[in-house]
Amino acid sequence: MLKVIVHGSGGYGSGGLTAAAQHVEHYEMAGYGCVRSYARLLKEREAVGILTRTYNEEKETDKKLTKLSKAINVEAADTKSKS
Ligand SMILES: [Fe+2]
Repeated sequence: MLKVIVHGSGGYGSGGLTAAAQHVEHYEMAGYGCVRSYARLLKEREAVGILTRTYNEEKETDKKLTKLSKAINVEAADTKSKS
């Protein structure tokens, strides 16, 4: 279960939202990857191509969120150490 706590902008709240967004991206990657496997089994080349592009878009978004979460978590750690 994913729990998101929002405390305004920055800090822990943004980290929680980023984690929730990544949760969605991973779910999408699993879904598109699975359907792409079915398309390969059925030799549906056009569908495989479309699903591969879509899968890669989700993967790129996940990478961007990972980069963002690293910055946010450092900011949150700094905020905590100063309080
Ligand atoms: Fe997505």
